[in-house]
Amino acid sequence: MTFPVRGFFVLTLLWMWVTPCLAWAGHNKTPSPRPAILLVAFGTTVPEARSALEHFEWQVRQRYPNVAVRWAYTARQVREKIRTQGVMVDSPALALARLSDDGFTHVAVQSLHIIPGEEFHNLMTICSRMEGLPKGLTRITVGAPLLATSADVRRLATTLTSHFGHQGQREAVVFFGHGTSHGGDVFYTALDHTLQQTSPWFTVTTVEGTPSMDETIQSLTALGATQARLVPLMAVAGDHAQNDMGGDDPDSLASRLRSRGIHPVPLLQGLASLPEVNAIWMEHLERAWEALELP
Ligand code: CO
Repeated sequence: MTFPVRGFFVLTLLWMWVTPCLAWAGHNKTPSPRPAILLVAFGTTVPEARSALEHFEWQVRQRYPNVAVRWAYTARQVREKIRTQGVMVDSPALALARLSDDGFTHVAVQSLHIIPGEEFHNLMTICSRMEGLPKGLTRITVGAPLLATSADVRRLATTLTSHFGHQGQREAVVFFGHGTSHGGDVFYTALDHTLQQTSPWFTVTTVEGTPSMDETIQSLTALGATQARLVPLMAVAGDHAQNDMGGDDPDSLASRLRSRGIHPVPLLQGLASLPEVNAIWMEHLERAWEALELP
């Protein structure tokens, strides 16, 4: 009677010892990292505008040929609207959760925002909270938006002035940004200042920030401009570019310039369709990729 009981006891002890060892052995097997790239834009409801994002994605795939590349849009309204067009794009949080479920371990996130404003800072918060969750992503790094340092400002100014060099004698080139009440808005003023050092005919204006459209219209009038090329300072030429910048609405920049005798020439092309501009975003992605510290 005693033997089997003792045997059972011994086996139980042995099992108690072995189980944690198996568990540790399992944990010691660090899975080899599976990296991915997540591109994050504000998003757009305009189907043709997405070609600029596709162009950027193509450049990323050329640079990282064997890496999974996915998209997320930060604007909920945009995601909801395009769902009705049959286009599904995840939020950053959902895209990261999906990458984790699909077995990826390291994600370099690249923001296609222009400035470090609210959208970018929200993205940073989401990424930092989702890093290192149990059974989740080991490492998430975030590449800076287009303008994040003084060097970015100088580089973008040089790129824009050489690409959009002004043609007519009295023709201004106006770069049309979104603008925000967030502190990151100062980058628009910094870019405006740097462009003006090259030529007073280059200027920046914004829908919701500084410089305002009123200020820009005033300075163009003072300058004696007769024509203004309007260029979206946005990744895509979406709703804001088509309506607030170049639209026929009396409040649009084009209409307001026309009423002051300045002939508007809107260019509906997002910055992400220009390889020279994408080179700046790409450099920020390269830094995020290096920060993954892949073996
Ligand atoms: Co807006």
